[in-house]
Amino acid sequence: MKLWNHYEEKLEIMRNILLDISKPNILELGVQKGISTKVFLDICEKNNGFLTSIDIDDCSNVSSSTRWKFIHSSDDDFDNIDKKLKEKNSFDFLFIDSLHEPSHVRKVFYHYFNYIKIGGFIVVDDVVWLPYIKGGIIDREFSERINRLTFNKILEIYNSNRDVLSLDINFSGSGLAILKKKGSLLNKEQKIKNRLNNLKNLIKNFYAPKPKK
Ligand SMILES: C[S@@+](CC[C@H](N)C(=O)[O-])C[C@H]1O[C@@H](n2cnc3c(N)ncnc32)[C@H](O)[C@@H]1O
Repeated sequence: MKLWNHYEEKLEIMRNILLDISKPNILELGVQKGISTKVFLDICEKNNGFLTSIDIDDCSNVSSSTRWKFIHSSDDDFDNIDKKLKEKNSFDFLFIDSLHEPSHVRKVFYHYFNYIKIGGFIVVDDVVWLPYIKGGIIDREFSERINRLTFNKILEIYNSNRDVLSLDINFSGSGLAILKKKGSLLNKEQKIKNRLNNLKNLIKNFYAPKPKK
Protein backbone atom coordinates (compact mmCIF):
# COMPACT_ATOMS: atom_id res chain seq x y z
CA MET A 1 0.00 0.00 0.00
CA LYS A 2 1.31 3.47 -0.94
CA LEU A 3 1.75 6.29 1.61
CA TRP A 4 -0.96 8.24 -0.22
CA ASN A 5 -3.57 5.62 0.74
CA HIS A 6 -2.46 6.02 4.32
CA TYR A 7 -2.86 9.82 4.10
CA GLU A 8 -6.48 9.19 3.08
CA GLU A 9 -6.85 7.01 6.19
CA LYS A 10 -5.44 9.82 8.30
CA LEU A 11 -7.80 12.37 6.72
CA GLU A 12 -10.68 10.02 7.50
CA ILE A 13 -9.61 9.82 11.16
CA MET A 14 -9.63 13.63 11.40
CA ARG A 15 -12.95 13.81 9.53
CA ASN A 16 -14.54 11.45 12.03
CA ILE A 17 -13.33 13.51 15.00
CA LEU A 18 -14.61 16.72 13.42
CA LEU A 19 -17.98 15.40 12.31
CA ASP A 20 -18.89 15.05 16.00
CA ILE A 21 -18.22 18.74 16.65
CA SER A 22 -20.98 21.25 16.02
CA LYS A 23 -19.78 24.57 14.49
CA PRO A 24 -16.13 23.43 14.54
CA ASN A 25 -13.56 26.20 14.61
CA ILE A 26 -10.47 24.72 12.96
CA LEU A 27 -6.89 25.98 12.70
CA GLU A 28 -4.55 24.44 10.12
CA LEU A 29 -0.78 24.96 9.81
CA GLY A 30 0.36 23.98 6.28
CA VAL A 31 -1.92 24.15 3.21
CA GLN A 32 0.19 23.45 0.08
CA LYS A 33 -2.29 22.17 -2.54
CA GLY A 34 -5.10 22.07 0.01
CA ILE A 35 -5.83 18.37 0.42
CA SER A 36 -6.49 18.62 4.17
CA THR A 37 -7.89 22.15 3.71
CA LYS A 38 -10.63 20.85 1.40
CA VAL A 39 -11.53 18.04 3.81
CA PHE A 40 -11.82 20.56 6.66
CA LEU A 41 -13.90 22.95 4.51
CA ASP A 42 -16.25 20.14 3.58
CA ILE A 43 -16.86 19.54 7.30
CA CYS A 44 -17.31 23.28 7.88
CA GLU A 45 -20.07 23.24 5.23
CA LYS A 46 -21.78 20.27 6.87
CA ASN A 47 -21.43 21.38 10.50
CA ASN A 48 -21.57 25.15 10.12
CA GLY A 49 -17.89 25.62 11.01
CA PHE A 50 -14.99 27.87 10.08
CA LEU A 51 -11.40 27.13 9.03
CA THR A 52 -8.34 29.36 9.43
CA SER A 53 -5.21 28.16 7.61
CA ILE A 54 -1.65 29.46 7.69
CA ASP A 55 1.10 28.85 5.15
CA ILE A 56 4.43 30.50 4.40
CA ASP A 57 3.56 30.23 0.68
CA ASP A 58 0.63 31.96 -0.92
CA CYS A 59 -2.06 29.26 -1.02
CA SER A 60 -4.96 31.71 -1.18
CA ASN A 61 -6.21 30.23 -4.47
CA VAL A 62 -6.94 26.84 -2.88
CA SER A 63 -10.54 27.81 -2.10
CA SER A 64 -12.98 30.70 -2.38
CA SER A 65 -15.16 29.43 0.47
CA THR A 66 -16.66 32.06 2.77
CA ARG A 67 -15.92 29.63 5.60
CA TRP A 68 -12.18 30.01 5.05
CA LYS A 69 -9.58 32.56 6.12
CA PHE A 70 -6.06 32.16 4.76
CA ILE A 71 -3.13 33.79 6.54
CA HIS A 72 -0.02 34.12 4.37
CA SER A 73 2.75 33.97 6.96
CA SER A 74 5.25 31.76 8.66
CA ASP A 75 3.34 30.07 11.47
CA ASP A 76 6.04 31.04 13.97
CA ASP A 77 5.70 34.75 13.23
CA PHE A 78 3.63 34.94 16.38
CA ASP A 79 3.47 38.76 16.64
CA ASN A 80 1.81 38.92 13.23
CA ILE A 81 -0.48 35.93 13.66
CA ASP A 82 -1.62 36.75 17.20
CA LYS A 83 -3.08 40.03 15.88
CA LYS A 84 -5.08 38.07 13.31
CA LEU A 85 -6.31 35.25 15.54
CA LYS A 86 -7.20 37.47 18.51
CA GLU A 87 -9.12 35.10 20.80
CA LYS A 88 -7.35 32.49 22.95
CA ASN A 89 -9.20 29.24 23.81
CA SER A 90 -11.38 29.55 20.70
CA PHE A 91 -10.40 26.66 18.41
CA ASP A 92 -11.80 23.11 18.59
CA PHE A 93 -9.15 21.53 16.41
CA LEU A 94 -5.55 22.28 15.38
CA PHE A 95 -3.76 20.40 12.59
CA ILE A 96 0.04 20.82 12.59
CA ASP A 97 1.38 19.97 9.12
CA SER A 98 3.80 22.78 8.22
CA LEU A 99 7.56 22.55 8.77
CA HIS A 100 8.29 18.95 9.72
CA GLU A 101 11.13 19.57 12.10
CA PRO A 102 10.92 18.63 15.82
CA SER A 103 11.93 21.98 17.31
CA HIS A 104 9.48 23.79 15.00
CA VAL A 105 6.67 21.38 15.90
CA ARG A 106 7.49 21.94 19.59
CA LYS A 107 7.46 25.73 19.14
CA VAL A 108 4.11 25.92 17.35
CA PHE A 109 2.58 23.27 19.63
CA TYR A 110 3.32 25.34 22.75
CA HIS A 111 2.16 28.59 21.15
CA TYR A 112 -1.09 27.45 19.55
CA PHE A 113 -2.01 25.26 22.55
CA ASN A 114 -3.28 28.49 24.13
CA TYR A 115 -5.72 28.97 21.27
CA ILE A 116 -7.37 25.57 21.78
CA LYS A 117 -10.47 25.09 23.93
CA ILE A 118 -10.41 22.61 26.79
CA GLY A 119 -11.70 19.41 25.18
CA GLY A 120 -10.26 20.44 21.81
CA PHE A 121 -7.81 18.44 19.68
CA ILE A 122 -4.25 18.97 18.50
CA VAL A 123 -3.24 16.64 15.68
CA VAL A 124 0.39 16.42 14.53
CA ASP A 125 1.18 14.83 11.17
CA ASP A 126 4.25 12.69 10.41
CA VAL A 127 5.31 11.23 13.74
CA VAL A 128 5.93 7.63 12.60
CA TRP A 129 9.20 6.59 10.94
CA LEU A 130 8.43 3.00 9.91
CA PRO A 131 7.76 3.71 6.19
CA TYR A 132 11.21 5.34 5.96
CA ILE A 133 13.43 2.67 7.53
CA LYS A 134 16.10 0.93 5.45
CA GLY A 135 14.16 -1.31 3.07
CA GLY A 136 10.87 0.42 4.01
CA ILE A 137 8.27 1.51 1.43
CA ILE A 138 10.10 4.85 1.06
CA ASP A 139 13.68 4.17 2.17
CA ARG A 140 14.70 7.69 3.33
CA GLU A 141 17.07 8.25 6.24
CA PHE A 142 16.25 11.96 6.63
CA SER A 143 12.51 11.34 7.14
CA GLU A 144 13.18 8.35 9.40
CA ARG A 145 15.28 10.54 11.68
CA ILE A 146 12.99 13.59 11.68
CA ASN A 147 9.85 11.54 12.34
CA ARG A 148 11.51 9.58 15.15
CA LEU A 149 12.65 12.84 16.77
CA THR A 150 9.19 14.39 16.36
CA PHE A 151 7.64 11.26 17.92
CA ASN A 152 10.06 11.51 20.86
CA LYS A 153 9.27 15.21 21.29
CA ILE A 154 5.52 14.48 21.39
CA LEU A 155 6.16 11.77 24.02
CA GLU A 156 8.20 14.21 26.11
CA ILE A 157 5.46 16.86 25.92
CA TYR A 158 2.80 14.30 26.83
CA ASN A 159 4.83 12.70 29.63
CA SER A 160 5.39 16.08 31.28
CA ASN A 161 1.70 16.96 30.95
CA ARG A 162 -0.32 13.83 31.70
CA ASP A 163 -2.99 15.85 33.55
CA VAL A 164 -3.25 18.36 30.72
CA LEU A 165 -3.20 16.16 27.62
CA SER A 166 -4.33 12.77 26.41
CA LEU A 167 -2.40 11.14 23.56
CA ASP A 168 -3.20 8.55 20.90
CA ILE A 169 -0.79 7.61 18.15
CA ASN A 170 -2.18 6.31 14.88
CA PHE A 171 0.42 4.32 12.94
CA SER A 172 -1.18 4.59 9.45
CA GLY A 173 1.55 5.54 6.96
CA SER A 174 3.75 8.24 8.43
CA GLY A 175 1.49 8.50 11.48
CA LEU A 176 -0.61 10.98 13.37
CA ALA A 177 -0.37 12.07 17.00
CA ILE A 178 -3.83 12.92 18.31
CA LEU A 179 -3.79 14.93 21.52
CA LYS A 180 -6.75 16.23 23.48
CA LYS A 181 -6.49 19.30 25.73
CA LYS A 182 -7.70 18.57 29.27
CA GLY A 183 -6.21 21.52 31.16
CA SER A 184 -4.83 24.96 30.44
CA LEU A 185 -1.30 25.06 31.88
CA LEU A 186 1.30 23.28 29.81
CA ASN A 187 4.57 22.36 31.56
CA LYS A 188 7.88 22.55 29.77
CA GLU A 189 8.75 19.10 28.48
CA GLN A 190 11.47 17.05 30.22
CA LYS A 191 13.74 14.48 28.62
CA ILE A 192 12.56 10.91 29.18
CA LYS A 193 15.29 8.89 30.87
CA ASN A 194 16.00 5.73 28.89
CA ARG A 195 17.35 2.91 31.05
CA LEU A 196 17.97 0.76 27.96
CA ASN A 197 21.20 2.72 27.51
CA ASN A 198 22.58 2.30 31.04
CA LEU A 199 25.66 0.13 31.58
CA LYS A 200 23.71 -2.76 33.11
CA ASN A 201 21.37 -3.02 30.13
CA LEU A 202 24.13 -2.54 27.58
CA ILE A 203 25.98 -5.50 29.15
CA LYS A 204 22.77 -7.53 28.89
CA ASN A 205 23.04 -7.23 25.10
CA PHE A 206 26.08 -9.54 25.37
CA TYR A 207 25.40 -11.51 28.52
CA ALA A 208 21.84 -12.07 29.67
CA PRO A 209 21.50 -14.81 32.28
CA LYS A 210 18.27 -16.83 31.95
CA PRO A 211 15.71 -16.09 34.69
CA LYS A 212 15.76 -18.65 37.53
CA LYS A 213 12.81 -21.10 37.51
C1 LIG B 1 3.10 18.92 3.99
S1 LIG B 1 2.61 20.43 3.30
C2 LIG B 1 0.97 20.62 3.87
C3 LIG B 1 0.04 19.66 3.25
C4 LIG B 1 -1.43 19.93 3.50
N1 LIG B 1 -1.77 19.92 4.91
C5 LIG B 1 -2.26 18.92 2.75
O1 LIG B 1 -2.85 18.02 3.32
O2 LIG B 1 -2.27 19.00 1.52
C6 LIG B 1 3.54 21.55 4.24
C7 LIG B 1 3.21 23.03 3.99
O3 LIG B 1 3.77 23.76 5.07
C8 LIG B 1 4.25 24.99 4.58
N2 LIG B 1 5.26 25.51 5.51
C9 LIG B 1 6.55 25.14 5.67
N3 LIG B 1 7.12 25.84 6.65
C10 LIG B 1 6.16 26.69 7.14
C11 LIG B 1 6.14 27.68 8.15
N4 LIG B 1 7.21 27.96 8.90
N5 LIG B 1 4.99 28.35 8.37
C12 LIG B 1 3.89 28.07 7.64
N6 LIG B 1 3.86 27.15 6.65
C13 LIG B 1 4.98 26.47 6.40
C14 LIG B 1 4.79 24.68 3.20
O4 LIG B 1 4.78 25.84 2.41
C15 LIG B 1 3.80 23.60 2.72
O5 LIG B 1 2.78 24.20 1.95
